[in-house]
Amino acid sequence: MKAVILAGGTGTRLKPLTGYLNKHMLPVGRYPMIHYAVAKLQEAGISDILLITGRMAAGMFIQYLGSGEELGVSLTYRIQEEAGGIAQALDLAEPFVGNGEKFVLLLGDNLFEHSLRGYAEQYERQEAGAMVLLKQVEDPHRYGVPTFGEGKNGRIITRITEKPEHPDTDFSVTGIYFYDSTVFSLIGDLAPSQRGELEITDLNNAYATRGLLSYATLQGWWADAGTFESLHEAAHQMLAKPSGGSGTEQGEGMG
Ligand code: G1P
Repeated sequence: MKAVILAGGTGTRLKPLTGYLNKHMLPVGRYPMIHYAVAKLQEAGISDILLITGRMAAGMFIQYLGSGEELGVSLTYRIQEEAGGIAQALDLAEPFVGNGEKFVLLLGDNLFEHSLRGYAEQYERQEAGAMVLLKQVEDPHRYGVPTFGEGKNGRIITRITEKPEHPDTDFSVTGIYFYDSTVFSLIGDLAPSQRGELEITDLNNAYATRGLLSYATLQGWWADAGTFESLHEAAHQMLAKPSGGSGTEQGEGMG
């Protein structure tokens, strides 16, 4: 399985810090944020990785991660010229992913403890459609929130609502998504949202309305480190458990 990491965006909620530094280069414990996404993939045996970022920060990622060799992975880079949403950035991955392949998409600001290995294996066994990882949270209104229903082979997600005022459930959709290459034709059918972006939730809903969106629940600690509070909490967690709790040391010898 291949992987795509998205590390662009404007980092609005972390201004002024993100006024001079891409969010994914901010320090979290002893490494820049981007380090953990790469290390988690490596630990799960996923080494063919595409990193998508903006023009401003690309040099810094290349300086820190290089070819990926020191972290035991192989990195390819693509530039998103203008921020146009997560689904628009993902569209740039089509030539890398190739026809008929399955892959995992990570939002680079999602930090988590549990290994991705079991989830990747579960998705490999899935016949068709996409799979998302969910996490029970106290503040679901900050995230995409799933509504559940019955599918042909058990419970599925029938709809995701983005940052709802009155969430249906206390689950959040994390920024860890598993797709097959049909995702690119679905992106082609998306219309820009009110804020003019191609939204990841609209993309996942394209699967959900077809009865093709499955899920698993992410075990262990998880954070979307997009706010000052969650960034602080993430740093605390990562300093306490530099291995991310997966049982393998991450990135020793790096940096
Ligand atoms: C994005 C997604 C949201 C998801 C979250 C997870 O939100 O739009 O559905 O729950 O990532 O990190 P953002 O953090 O970009 O506002």
